[in-house]
Amino acid sequence: EFHKHPNKYAWSFDGPFGKWDVQQLQRGFKVYNEVCSACHSLKFVSFRDLEAIGYDESQVKAFAASKQVPGVDPATGEATTRPGLPTDYFPSPFPNAVAAAAANNNAIPPDLSLITKARHDGSNYVTSLLTGYQEIPAELKKEFPDFALSPTGHYNPYFANLGLAMAPPLSAGAVTYDDGTDASVEQMAKDVSAFLTWTAEPSLVKRKQTGWPVLIFLLFATVLAYLSKQQIWAAVK
Ligand code: HEM
Repeated sequence: EFHKHPNKYAWSFDGPFGKWDVQQLQRGFKVYNEVCSACHSLKFVSFRDLEAIGYDESQVKAFAASKQVPGVDPATGEATTRPGLPTDYFPSPFPNAVAAAAANNNAIPPDLSLITKARHDGSNYVTSLLTGYQEIPAELKKEFPDFALSPTGHYNPYFANLGLAMAPPLSAGAVTYDDGTDASVEQMAKDVSAFLTWTAEPSLVKRKQTGWPVLIFLLFATVLAYLSKQQIWAAVK
């Protein structure tokens, strides 16, 4: 009873006519890039995928080049890093899982590419999680006097075991939006959730739009079938 279902937010991509809000995806990308990418990778998203949310080739090239990705030193054959190319994928901020755990009190920040699919009601979940940190409720302490967070845990009723190793990552004004939108915690949480909905299913809007011609075609085919049946059996009384 202390674990809560995600709140419902209004998303531009909800419903049969849902569409991406490209401005919002760009704001969410900024939040990911400036805040979340310090700990979380997006290993299934390549830099050139950003063209689908309104960046042009030269912007993508410049952005990719500003990131270091894993590479091999051609002289020695040893692992090293190099500036990214548009075809590279968003890298992990840590060289491996051990380093990731060591930097985060033993919890490994999960890759976020598919997080909105991996969790029930993902878009709402991520927003609720990011805005849901609070003190341990008094009723919980009363009902379960032995309840304790791990020393590095943060109480969050939207997280399955109530104690999240991730400290609240957002604070008001953490990013400065290019379109002048006020960067409140809720705004950033929604924007990055929309962005992570896009990373998990970039074809969402196309999928919904494909449905309409399909339905219209099926309707047409049904009418046609009915009329031919009428004609074929017309002589039989
Ligand atoms: C876990 C999102 C920033 C460290 C998570 C989870 C999500 C998430 C959705 C998974 C919760 C689950 O398993 O259901 C984000 C977003 C961020 C952000 C959207 C930016 C706004 C950060 C930062 C750090 C961090 C900056 C490190 C300083 C972690 C860790 C976990 C985690 C360690 C694992 C928590 C656990 O299993 O207890 N994050 N995160 N995150 N995040 Fe973040």
